Amino acid sequence: MINKIHTLGGYFHEYQKSLTNPDDFWEQQAECLYWRKRWEKVIDWNFEEPSINWYVNAKLNITESIFEKNLYTHGNNTAIIWEPNDPADEAITLTYRQLYEKVNQLANSLKILGVKKGDRVALYMPMVPELAIALLACARIGAIHSVIFAGFSAQSLSERINDAGAKVVITSDGGYRGSKVTPLKEIADEAMEHSPVVESVVVLKRTNTPVEMKAGRDIWWHDLMEGKDTECPAEEMDAEDPLFILYTSGSTGKPKGIVHTVAGYMVYTAYTFRNVFQYSRGDVYFCTADIGWITGHSYIVYGPLLNGAQTLMFEGTPTWPDAGRFWDIVDKHKVNQFYTAPTAIRSLLSLGNEYLAGKALDSLKVLGTVGEPINEDAWHWYHDHVGKNRCPIVDTWWQTETGGVLISPLAGITPTKPSFATLPLPGVLPVIVDNEGKELKGNSVEGNLCVKFPWPGMARTIWGDHERFRDTYFSTFKNYYFTGDGVRRDEDGYYRILGRVDDVINVSGHRLGTAEIENAINEHPLVNESAVVGYPHAIKGQGIYAFVVCPELSTGGEEGIRRSIKQGVTKIIGPIARPDLVQIVPGLPKTRSGKIMRRILRKIAEGDATNLGDISTLLDEDIVGQIIDSALVDVKH
Ligand code: PRX
Repeated sequence: MINKIHTLGGYFHEYQKSLTNPDDFWEQQAECLYWRKRWEKVIDWNFEEPSINWYVNAKLNITESIFEKNLYTHGNNTAIIWEPNDPADEAITLTYRQLYEKVNQLANSLKILGVKKGDRVALYMPMVPELAIALLACARIGAIHSVIFAGFSAQSLSERINDAGAKVVITSDGGYRGSKVTPLKEIADEAMEHSPVVESVVVLKRTNTPVEMKAGRDIWWHDLMEGKDTECPAEEMDAEDPLFILYTSGSTGKPKGIVHTVAGYMVYTAYTFRNVFQYSRGDVYFCTADIGWITGHSYIVYGPLLNGAQTLMFEGTPTWPDAGRFWDIVDKHKVNQFYTAPTAIRSLLSLGNEYLAGKALDSLKVLGTVGEPINEDAWHWYHDHVGKNRCPIVDTWWQTETGGVLISPLAGITPTKPSFATLPLPGVLPVIVDNEGKELKGNSVEGNLCVKFPWPGMARTIWGDHERFRDTYFSTFKNYYFTGDGVRRDEDGYYRILGRVDDVINVSGHRLGTAEIENAINEHPLVNESAVVGYPHAIKGQGIYAFVVCPELSTGGEEGIRRSIKQGVTKIIGPIARPDLVQIVPGLPKTRSGKIMRRILRKIAEGDATNLGDISTLLDEDIVGQIIDSALVDVKH
């Protein structure tokens, strides 16, 4: 069993131990997992190159810690509970043994398609058990999985497939999300026109949407799995071999393929899952995230399964057929730990308490949030109405790059404070630095959130671009990992995350680079240039506000062009990046050297232009007044 902290004193003790002797601490956390060959050294690192190695020279396969280590003792226990989109359809459960057999069958199938250790496999799938099976099958044979969220467009999919050099794509005829069916295979076909690297496409039948199957390339999942052996020996991996690539947005350029490696990620997700959620054998744990994001990787699939947990996967959306769907699932499956995003909480709160009425929520022991800052109203509603004042809330702060939670209460152990992620987990050394990189010590300080010491779950590189990895995370502040977030440490030493300090926005918990959206807008033939910023949005946290320069309006007029810009972004990136507000402006506020002054646009979008700061470097002050006058939100000025 993974080690578990039981008391606040225990937490402080473990934290101290992890700082004074990280090698011993992380060795202890690794002992309870399954290794073919032990490590020669626990950590070997420097943040200059950066070069980060955990459990040096150990050999293992992560699936052996999930299956082989435990099958004899709990092979018949439930691993996955799958709740389909439509409540009228039956839920499915898979025991550890059943999951093991399916994983092996798919692993053997992938081998037949020629997939070998180190090859990349792209997964573009709905939230069905087969997605979890596909992740684990890749891990079993040492292939590197790269999940692409099923809400991304053909172009985004193709770019990610090409960047990763994926040889095989696994997709589905379609995916259900509430009342909508997304034709995933059709989108994948469009992507494939620009992705000649792909040799085979495996298609799962889910929605019975008619699809074209390209001879010699496409094969049905059920045909491929037919008659395959349910045993497949696990590939021996080095501790630092890549486990997966997951693309995420940054402040500049194209999305980055974040690389996580086998051993450190395994130890970190296993340890943090058990401790943050205080999981006990037999509990039913439900994380509402999509496996297309890091939360799904770490805390639907790997963390829970490494703990022998029962993990609930949900295919649908929180508001279909009505806003009581989550609570029906909690009631039906007697969920003990429930983990969701603030945006979902805000949306359910806004729809009223009647959807909670009559739902038995007394099985709940722990509530969690992730992905964005949670406002106090949402926190209290969650605490009082969902948790009935009984359940601790774990506000877990982390990132795609961190692999697992870094700052969070331990459920029921760390005293909570609304909208505070509270304290770092053992092994995590956060520091706050000012813009000059000076460490701000003590309490009641605010600045840039960095981490001073490596932890096992951290990303190792950006796929194919180590220099970018160094530039993005290790060069802003020397010798620190820079998170991109602003933070405050209060008088009690508690951390409150303030949001991104770079050009990344967080829309409904989805992380988007403003530059990416601008590039998509700029592809519109009538657009000269654009600037995108976030603005406060009651449900989404942040909405997308685009300022667009279009000297010649089309025949459709302003309204027409706004619509076509929104459609364009949806087509190029996907619906998650669709701007909420598009303001056509005569020009953008720029410095004399031609740099867009985003700070000013951010202020306008926030509705407060009373204090625009230093505008002495502005090339044309009139532009600002004109933008304010025709702004799409009320602006105080
Ligand atoms: O700004 C922080 C915010 O989400 C960013 C990371 O996004 P992503 O890599 O997509 O991973 C999301 C799921 C782990 C962070 O830089 N964020 C994440 N969790 C919180 C948060 N902001 C405030 N509070 C949180 N609990």
